[in-house]
Amino acid sequence: MLPGLDKNSWIFLVLKREKLFLHDKPVSANQSLTECKHLHADYLIIGSGAAGLLAANRLAAHGQVLLVNKGRFKDSSTWNAQGGIAGVMSESDSFDSHVQDTLDAGVGLCHEDVVRVIIGHGREIIDELVEIGTAFDEENGALHLTREGGHSSRRVAHVQDATGRAISEALLAQIAPHANVTRLEEHVAIDLVTSVSTDAGQKRCVGAYVLNPDGEVITIAAGQTILATGGTGKVYLYTSNPHAATGDGIAMAWRAGCAVMNLEFIQFHPTCLYHREGSNMLLSEALRGEGAHIVDADGRRFLFDYDERGELASRDIVARAIDHEIKKQGVDCMYLDARPINANLILDHFRNIHSRLLALGIDLTQELVPVVPAAHYICGGIQADVTGKTSLDGLYAIGETACTGLHGANRLASNSLLECLVMADGCAADVIKQPVPPACEIANWDDSGIVPEIERIQIKQNWDEIRATMSHYVGIVRSDERLRRAARRLRIIQDEIASYYWKHPVSQDLLELRNIALLAELIIRSAEQRLESRGLHYSTDYPQSSAVASDTVLRPEH
Ligand code: FAD
Ligand code: SIN
Repeated sequence: MLPGLDKNSWIFLVLKREKLFLHDKPVSANQSLTECKHLHADYLIIGSGAAGLLAANRLAAHGQVLLVNKGRFKDSSTWNAQGGIAGVMSESDSFDSHVQDTLDAGVGLCHEDVVRVIIGHGREIIDELVEIGTAFDEENGALHLTREGGHSSRRVAHVQDATGRAISEALLAQIAPHANVTRLEEHVAIDLVTSVSTDAGQKRCVGAYVLNPDGEVITIAAGQTILATGGTGKVYLYTSNPHAATGDGIAMAWRAGCAVMNLEFIQFHPTCLYHREGSNMLLSEALRGEGAHIVDADGRRFLFDYDERGELASRDIVARAIDHEIKKQGVDCMYLDARPINANLILDHFRNIHSRLLALGIDLTQELVPVVPAAHYICGGIQADVTGKTSLDGLYAIGETACTGLHGANRLASNSLLECLVMADGCAADVIKQPVPPACEIANWDDSGIVPEIERIQIKQNWDEIRATMSHYVGIVRSDERLRRAARRLRIIQDEIASYYWKHPVSQDLLELRNIALLAELIIRSAEQRLESRGLHYSTDYPQSSAVASDTVLRPEH
């Protein structure tokens, strides 16, 4: 037994490249963080979108927070969020109506208790955002509320069409003065480190290995670790997501032993720009909320053939209808027609989208805009409760990386930012109640036997293959045969990755490749288990929904 340990202490699992020892050495004030190979924090937060930023804000008053982000702060989905944040803010709306719209969008799979908790905090969260300086658009002295698909009322608070950026800036400004929060940009979390209790045999998360901008692997030991790593859009060829969305949190949690839930429900946003120079640009659903139409090349509105709500049907229905028309008509795209919207409203409310399109030579007020559906959001994730608690002691998961059951089989537009913030708030409240675990030090990353750089072409080839396979076989419409084909290809690619991952120095693209490969495998396995069509999962072999809706939960074998 190591010195200082009694039977109630933690001993540490020795995994490849992962060893742990006890210590109680915090980072000293005059040490440069980037020079330091072993860091220590009370709270390690991985990811600085809405979820990570609010959690950091809340926890700063209670201990040392290390906020790790793999890119710059604006490389998050949050920063890019356009439409807004949903909440019951007007007299003509009601809590029950927002709950019902969420349940309807989720097609029988939402966890109603979770829906009620999260929707119930909408007004409070939006009020807090206003208080900390988010300049939501106003009209006649009240918030201007916009409307999006699946909502029966106007209930989306927004800052023009750049809501996420405004929220991020307000949260960042709150964090800035806190001496307790240390921000590490361009640090990529590689894997979580777990230990096992000598007494109960129970595993615990004690921190993470992180790749710093100099290409060195540092260790961060933490009392509590919070994953706020966002989504997985990069698993697909066409996505609205920023580069960072490679599912790292889900992959790390899975490797550490956590259960994952409902990963087959990938939300494709109906209207992403189809243009060779504007690959992942989103055209907010709020455009349709304000009156834009979807048409084919002949100018025909076809969505009423699929749903009586037409352009305001929920996202799964609109995306599937567009996909169906593209395939039926043998064309590359459909079109968004924003001309029914008053041009002044476009110039005011949608000024970022308008100016980005103008830079590509498209005038939103005058012309049709070519659009295709693209991977936008993952409704599934690490199984967690509303406070982010996972099945692994010491580990929380919040925001898009988590799956609470709020979204069921399809997320209602603008419910995601709300979920991120409500979860971050609940998570912080839960974290500060936890007993402080014994301090520990994580041993150096073991890179003995590593041979120099891998040829980058191998990594690129596997990246491209995974994304193409997922887009062609595990997209909006699936079948048993397509899933089998995708699974076969994934196995080969994963074997290749395994053959070189441990032999070469880690790099961001290699780490991300390993993660998107794992995510692709887990998405396919989840899709194979769902022998029905529901919400975002549509299979030509099982076109009907089962009478009883149930979650798909996968658990790692180790
Ligand atoms: P993110 O905001 O994605 O942040 C994740 C963070 O984790 C990033 O900072 C990333 O760098 C970091 N990270 C990831 N992996 C690692 C790693 N290995 N190591 C270190 N750091 C890591 N939802 C709405 O409710 N309303 C909207 O209007 C809306 N519009 C959207 C528009 C776009 C273009 C997109 C892409 C999404 C939109 N969504 C919207 C969805 C919503 O923005 C996201 O679901 C939400 O912002 C996710 O927040 P998050 O904090 O969970 O993660
Ligand atoms: C949008 O503005 O269309 C995105 C809204 C969302 O994803 O909730």
